[in-house]
Amino acid sequence: MMRIIEKAELSKQVQAYRELNYRIGFVPTMGALHFGHLSLVRKSRAENQISIVSIFVNPTQFNDSKDLEKYPRTPEQDLEMLDAEGVDIVFVPDVETIYPDEKRNVFDLDGLDKPMEGKFREGHFDGVADVVYRLFDIVKPDRAYFGEKDYQQLKIIQQMTNVAKLPVEICSGEIVRESDGLAMSSRNMRLSEQERSVAVNIYRIMRDFDPKAFVENPSKAEKMLAEEINQYEHLQTEYVSIVEDDSMQTPENLESDVTYRLCIAVWCGQVRLIDNLTFVISNNY
Ligand code: PAJ
Repeated sequence: MMRIIEKAELSKQVQAYRELNYRIGFVPTMGALHFGHLSLVRKSRAENQISIVSIFVNPTQFNDSKDLEKYPRTPEQDLEMLDAEGVDIVFVPDVETIYPDEKRNVFDLDGLDKPMEGKFREGHFDGVADVVYRLFDIVKPDRAYFGEKDYQQLKIIQQMTNVAKLPVEICSGEIVRESDGLAMSSRNMRLSEQERSVAVNIYRIMRDFDPKAFVENPSKAEKMLAEEINQYEHLQTEYVSIVEDDSMQTPENLESDVTYRLCIAVWCGQVRLIDNLTFVISNNY
């Protein structure tokens, strides 16, 4: 039976599980759940005795108050989906529970928060790192699950966990896509029919990209891809960045057998979409 419980009860329950030596898997979310979230839940279920999901639309990570206001909320449906997945505990805290005062936890994110999302969403990652720290402190999971959809976020949470020396294993899940390739996102619900149909071009253009022609000049590829995307009505690229997968540094040249990641943020009408894709230029052909 899935239970929806409050902070005090959750802490007690987690303590009881720990005494039984149960492994606890945790999937933090902001709700408006889709199969991307559920893929993480399934991983957690497969790898742990107990799975806990949180639903909390974290105000401190929204740099735009309109985006916070318009963030989709589908609470009943979320709970039904989680129940059907066999989740043990759902935690749906209110803002006061997570932020009882004005204090904020600040972490040395080692510059990982500077490029891409960090550049265009001021303070976003400070809010993400703080809330995930607070959630970890309450849930005390053994493993926590994050999607590669938000690749920079995944890196930052790994960094936060390391600097705060938390005994949590950060696990990742691949991007889950709609059948036409669009990365699943809670924000997709906000697209009009017309916007939804052009949004498919983002992933198509990423997938068709041939990096071999740009080994000496990846920044030219970034510009070209942005222009290609911007040709579509409703689509306006915010950034296209090719980064080294591990360090997230911008390479001057693309080397063979190194994993890179093409990361993109695009406005589709009033909705901001992100996506990413890894690639390797192989020496073999
Ligand atoms: P949210 O956007 O709800 O996403 C929750 C988790 O689901 C994140 O780890 C995200 O990367 C993952 N996810 C979303 N779409 C996905 C997809 N198409 N495929 C695979 N995984 C996907 O990310 C957040 O919430 C918040 O920033 C949070 C970490 C909960 C902190 O507030």
